[in-house]
Amino acid sequence: MNTNIESILNEHRVFTPAATFSGQAHVKSMEDYEAIYQKSVADPESWWAEQAGHLHWQQPWNQILDWSNPPFAQWFLGGKINVAENCLDRHVTAGKGDRIALRWEGEPGDRRDITYSQLLEMVCRAANALKAHGVQAGDRVLIYMPMIPEAAAAMLACARIGAVHSVVFGGFSATAIKDRLEDSKATAIITADGGWRRGNVVPLKANVDEALTQYDGVHTVLVVKRCGNDVTMTEGRDRWWDEECAAVAANCPAEGFDAEHPLYILYTSGSTGKPKGILHTSGGYLTGAATTFRYIFDHQDSDVFWCTADVGWVTGHSYIVYGPMANGATQVMYEGAPNTPDWDRFWKIIADHKVTVFYTAPTAIRAFIKAGDQHVDKHDLSSLRLLGSVGEPINPEAWIWYHQKIGAGRCPIVDTWWQTETGAILISPIPGATPLKPGTATRPFFGIDAAILDETGQECGPNEGGKLVIRKPWPSMLRTLWGDPERFKATYWSEYEGIYLAGDGARRDEDGYFWIVGRLDDVLNVSGHRLGTAEVESALVSHPAVAEAAVVGRPDEIKGQGVVAFVTVKTGVPTSKELALELRNHVAKEIGAIAKPDDIRFAATLPKTRSGKIMRRLLKEIVSSGEVKGDVTTLEDFNAVASLQGKGDEE
Ligand code: WTA
Repeated sequence: MNTNIESILNEHRVFTPAATFSGQAHVKSMEDYEAIYQKSVADPESWWAEQAGHLHWQQPWNQILDWSNPPFAQWFLGGKINVAENCLDRHVTAGKGDRIALRWEGEPGDRRDITYSQLLEMVCRAANALKAHGVQAGDRVLIYMPMIPEAAAAMLACARIGAVHSVVFGGFSATAIKDRLEDSKATAIITADGGWRRGNVVPLKANVDEALTQYDGVHTVLVVKRCGNDVTMTEGRDRWWDEECAAVAANCPAEGFDAEHPLYILYTSGSTGKPKGILHTSGGYLTGAATTFRYIFDHQDSDVFWCTADVGWVTGHSYIVYGPMANGATQVMYEGAPNTPDWDRFWKIIADHKVTVFYTAPTAIRAFIKAGDQHVDKHDLSSLRLLGSVGEPINPEAWIWYHQKIGAGRCPIVDTWWQTETGAILISPIPGATPLKPGTATRPFFGIDAAILDETGQECGPNEGGKLVIRKPWPSMLRTLWGDPERFKATYWSEYEGIYLAGDGARRDEDGYFWIVGRLDDVLNVSGHRLGTAEVESALVSHPAVAEAAVVGRPDEIKGQGVVAFVTVKTGVPTSKELALELRNHVAKEIGAIAKPDDIRFAATLPKTRSGKIMRRLLKEIVSSGEVKGDVTTLEDFNAVASLQGKGDEE
């Protein structure tokens, strides 16, 4: 049996950055990239120490890295730092207090501009309010908020006093809140009455109340008034954020904490049903987030940056709060859905706020393609100079549309590979330097020793598929799984000794570019060939009739696994047996007969997590047993599953 992961998608187009872009970029050519990269990996500790030196340390470190007890890394030992001070006070002290930190837009269209000075005061007051209610350094604070400026302020307020935040995505249920409270043993919560989503109020406070009927370790709930919806306030426990913040001093000293002081826990799903609490610490994490933001988004003072992620995901942590703010960036923050009131909302925001750098996810891009170009054509997107993508492999079809339609062929695209665990982007183009190929995150970031290994631990040759690993520690790496160091070791460090296993399958092409095939658990084995589900999906989506596709395996007596494709078609396209046949042949033509789906199932929507990832586990259950038994708490739209199971809207 062939044990190599085969990556047989062929994509040969190359896009080099325009001279006008490169000329003003931090890194201007591939020669410059190579020089910095070689230096950085020859001595990563020195390179990272140089980057950490751009931050403000209250006390310098005396040891860059302690890797004597792998996989438990410690960076910048002896150093003392306050993360919030680096994101706020530093800019105010430098005379940039009037610079706008957040240009916020609510879903109903209300707007607020918040300067760095104003944000600093918000954060200090919130920090003092937390302190006034007994929250101390090391205590865990759960944050469950809509995308409003107070969400960022709440995170930074925790950081300022050394409390450990755990943000729970506002789309999660009361059960998810309860599970995370129990695991983190949080003692305080910051939430809001509600948040706007597709014209409706999400009852955040009511969800917190429900979670707290099953967990009694919380002494204080601070509630931001956002929607004015009715909420129940429990005497002695629940308090209005506004009142509490008004009652305390506007200034809160920024105490220096150890570089390894915990900054946050963020829960993410693993291969088991129990979410993993990814732990990030202070000095190293901030170094990673700040440095990658500056180089990968080529941050310039004149930029207006917009990352469309929610602060409930790691992308919101690293590229809305910590990375951009450590750089004193001006950002757009948007509360609501991309299609409210209509599918042109994002393009209108870009035009209205003159966004220059835009960072979103392939799943969103495909939704925009499906919605139609007429929504894009209504708005002037000429302020854009750089585009980014994150969260899953971007299929070349979506990449080209993004490049042509949104970027007008002018903007480089940084396809950024990273994970909740890595804290910061690890593989990405450097936009002024790297020639781009649609569908690849290209080369490792400075200081990152990424490789692809086979089962025996040998490095794979060009275009040979294997497991993506990081061979040396990096400052923003997760430190452990909260409360479960054994699972931390078993999940990431047991396959190859002292080497981080990302859990993604990948190949490296002849130019050293990394092509991520997808999660290893999403890799199929068809007739002894391993096949990336993402590749089959990409092939399907390259057909003009297809909007989105998800591919899973199902047991097959002859081939080991057969390929089942769930396909949503573009608006107005009729589905038929003929189209299914055409799509099977299309995949065979794009990749090869081996990848030809055995079964094409048309679906109105695909079941997705609220962060936009297709829930393949559900699809696998559907194709193998015809029904779903497992946990569906992270599912966006329950009707999607019901209809795939053939139950339609009965429930
Ligand atoms: C996938 C999101 C291909 C990958 C920041 C990874 C990607 C997982 C990319 C982490 C990309 C993320 N190309 N795949 N540019 N970015 N992934 O923890 O499978 O939500 O392991 O972090 O998303 O997802 P997470």
